[in-house]
Amino acid sequence: MKKLATSQLIPGMTVGSDVQSYDNRTVLTKGTVLTDTLITRLELYGILSVYIDDTAKVEAVREEEPAQTLPPAPESELSEDILSKVEQAEEDAGIREDDHTSYFEKVRASREFKEFEDDYRRQKDSLAFTLNEMVEKNIQVDAQLLIEGPLEMIKRAGSRSDIMDMLHLMRGYDDATYTHCMNVALLNYVLAGWMGWDEERQTTALASGLFHDVGKLRIPKEILLKPARLDADEFATVRKHSIFGYELLKRQNVSDSIRNATLMHHERYDGSGYPLHLKGEQIDPYARLTSISDVYDAMTSARVYRGPLCPFRVVEIFEDEGLEKYDPDMILTFLKNVCNTYLQTRCRLSDGRIGTIIMLHPDRFSRPVVDCDGTIVDLREHKDLSIDALI
Ligand SMILES: [Fe+2]
Ligand SMILES: [Fe+2]
Repeated sequence: MKKLATSQLIPGMTVGSDVQSYDNRTVLTKGTVLTDTLITRLELYGILSVYIDDTAKVEAVREEEPAQTLPPAPESELSEDILSKVEQAEEDAGIREDDHTSYFEKVRASREFKEFEDDYRRQKDSLAFTLNEMVEKNIQVDAQLLIEGPLEMIKRAGSRSDIMDMLHLMRGYDDATYTHCMNVALLNYVLAGWMGWDEERQTTALASGLFHDVGKLRIPKEILLKPARLDADEFATVRKHSIFGYELLKRQNVSDSIRNATLMHHERYDGSGYPLHLKGEQIDPYARLTSISDVYDAMTSARVYRGPLCPFRVVEIFEDEGLEKYDPDMILTFLKNVCNTYLQTRCRLSDGRIGTIIMLHPDRFSRPVVDCDGTIVDLREHKDLSIDALI
């Protein structure tokens, strides 16, 4: 039996022992053969590693196999509704293995992406080193120095939409916390720019993302990496990471905005978040921004064996989850700009037709108008159709 990080799992592997959720429900039983959907769900449950039966043959599996029914993820920020949306989107993405020349494949092959990939790895390693020094040795961190690397990387990467594209392709790398903090930092920077925030505030947004989950490093590894059940106390400890992070940052020379983003990034605009159950404008703007990047990163977190989900599917999941959880201005700006990036891009619809995205609906960004060789298809009116891939 071998313990593997969830990010290293591959469809076809066999689960070696029962996997429990944080609140003691069985998520997967011993002997289950993993599928793309099941692996995604493990991540949404926050399960970071799983015992795999390494004597079992890894079979190629197709997502058409009946998916195992799982209980809803109780402590995930993502509701059961979204889980099933993600599942659907994953399934759609999974059956498209012939997309070798898709939009993202072209980006992946570019010189700019290769440079970004190298930069990203370097920056992530240095972030890991610095945050560890801070947590373990209580060393004062030079926040300015910490953000310089990612900032230069952003400048080299080009436009905000280029950064979004490349981030899409950086998913699936190992090590949850540091990679996630890097992603959220870059997303925060992009979103702050789209919001029209000045350079200084964009930089603060970037730093907020880098630090936001630092409290997770204070949670004992036995809890974070425990493949089996966590008891109620352990689970409560995991949820305390935002408070732990805030306490760590109190001793650091960083701005109140960065501290607040760490403390409040799990608060929700409608009051449904934690730990303080704040509402609306009570939540620091940097925390409101970070919550969007945080959930976006969780939803688009990809597998090592396939490309990322089509952005329109991700936006649709956000729209269905309920936009009232987020700052209305920020969430609309985010979704509009993510979709705007792909205006005039070729796409393939779920019925196989190829077209060009020509217009967005401000009330439903995920369902734009597509021109299929002169036939105008308004996806807002055709609920049975969706964009399967950008090509
Ligand atoms: Fe968090
Ligand atoms: Fe996070």
